[in-house]
Amino acid sequence: MEQTFIMIKPDGVQRGLIGDIISRFEKKGYYLKGMKFMNVDKSFAQQHYADLSAQPFFAKLVDYIISGPVVAMVWEGKDVVLTGRRIIGATRPWEAAPGTIRGDHAVEVSRNVIHGSDSVENGKKEIALWFPGGLAEWKSNLHPWIYE
Ligand code: TYD
Repeated sequence: MEQTFIMIKPDGVQRGLIGDIISRFEKKGYYLKGMKFMNVDKSFAQQHYADLSAQPFFAKLVDYIISGPVVAMVWEGKDVVLTGRRIIGATRPWEAAPGTIRGDHAVEVSRNVIHGSDSVENGKKEIALWFPGGLAEWKSNLHPWIYE
């Protein structure tokens, strides 16, 4: 079953949005397969955002990610990468539809509350980076009232 890496950024944590964010994914029908609080250092944040290293906002982005604890999560379920991105909303909060996390909770692109993997392949890479020890074993089948 497909998995994605979701991170609640420092602003989301400090603003008390953890419960709201987890609830949106749970209610949709996705399963929380990994979760931990982390303070990441500069080189780790640079590694996570390596694809953006040439962007003018890269240094600021890294400083923001290391400015407080983040919540690193693995979510699992059908089409969770793409659907997760739709639950999160557009990168720029002013383009994010109301009803999405960023549409409901963010104003600035540089304070946009949450990260979600943008492809299945990047999801795998990010899960390996953030959860190098693997995930706790979780013995359960997909809920028959959610999954056919
Ligand atoms: P990106 O990977 O383009 O977006 P997303 O998080 O939706 O996958 O960019 C990563 C983060 O970089 C984005 O969430 C916020 C930050 N960022 C800025 O600070 N300024 C910008 O102009 C852009 C495009 C992104």
